[in-house]
Amino acid sequence: MNRVSKATKIDWWQPIIGLSEYDLTHEVLKSGFLNDGKVTEQLEKAVADLIGTKYAVAVTSGTAALYLALKAFDIGPGDEVIVPDTTFIATANAVVMTGATARLVDIEKDTLNIDPQKIQSAINKKTKAIIPVHVSGRLADMKAIMKIAQEHKLVVIEDAAEAFGSKKDNRSAGTYGQIGCFSFSPNKTITTGQGGMIVTDDPDLHGKLRQLKDQGRPYRGTGGDDLHPAIGYNFKLTNLQAAVGIGQMQDIEGRLKKLRSFYDTYKHELNGLSGIKLFPFNTAAGETPQWVDSFVHDRDALTKHFDANNIGYRRFWHPLHRQDPYRLPDSDFPIASHSSEHALWLPSSLLLTEDDIKGVCKEIKSVLS
Ligand SMILES: Cc1ncc(COP(=O)(O)O)c(C=O)c1O
Repeated sequence: MNRVSKATKIDWWQPIIGLSEYDLTHEVLKSGFLNDGKVTEQLEKAVADLIGTKYAVAVTSGTAALYLALKAFDIGPGDEVIVPDTTFIATANAVVMTGATARLVDIEKDTLNIDPQKIQSAINKKTKAIIPVHVSGRLADMKAIMKIAQEHKLVVIEDAAEAFGSKKDNRSAGTYGQIGCFSFSPNKTITTGQGGMIVTDDPDLHGKLRQLKDQGRPYRGTGGDDLHPAIGYNFKLTNLQAAVGIGQMQDIEGRLKKLRSFYDTYKHELNGLSGIKLFPFNTAAGETPQWVDSFVHDRDALTKHFDANNIGYRRFWHPLHRQDPYRLPDSDFPIASHSSEHALWLPSSLLLTEDDIKGVCKEIKSVLS
């Protein structure tokens, strides 16, 4: 339960790279075909199988996934898209990339996810879509959100960047809306360095997304006399990156199980401690924290102690309305404003052991008891 030495860093997060990734990328290098190709298709299939969708389209990042998802619905100038005020800024930036306006909505105090009640009052004639974000892997209230979307004929694109493999009611994040988007950046459950994946069950959307990511081509082309029936761009994920992703997927269930177990350990160890509250995860039902998040009354005291003890952490994002491009008054977003000053991600690196987590809890108790 005690660390060997406080000089040993307890990381907030570290990607794990296994030997398979070396072997698989070596194979791609030997093949000479580094571009988006068969290995990319293998990764798409592995992700679709895990998430339980008919289709998956690999792209260069989670941001690109969101951008192409919006483009697949022709969302652009003059349109509004509802996004939560508490999220990584990419969610809103993807909306702005299309020329549409990101309409910020406050969050729920107990989940840090978008508040469905407040979505209602943000809807107007220009609203085209809602992008719920599953913050830290905790699923947003998709039942309520889908109901609102159906009533107002809005598209739902799930930002599941932090919820790869997380489930609720036996259904994966990313499968509730018309489209789900994942990120494979280095602080995610699996990484391809940078990368993203779009999932859908709709064959037409799949076709559009395929074209959008590859210069309007429905199938992998030659680069020569191909037909380009639609406008598209270059958001291809290469075989080289996909090889890393396939290596990472080999023990995906083990990774997800470990993250759930870390949460259960934190919960057990910190039970009854005032001064810190973990945000909830229904781990028994497969809901999986990408990172364990907490509300800490005196966050500065805890982070100071973590710094002194070589323990990593990450403070929550500033709410979007406090960032210059999206600036709005705090009074419009009371919950996001307050939460952002207290929310903290605790060490959740897959390289940690259960004893490491217990050691972190011991340090938390020493400050907050
Ligand atoms: C909630 C959320 N949305 C979008 C993204 C963007 O993903 P990427 O960094 O792969 O572009 C991230 C992560 O980085 C994220 O956490």
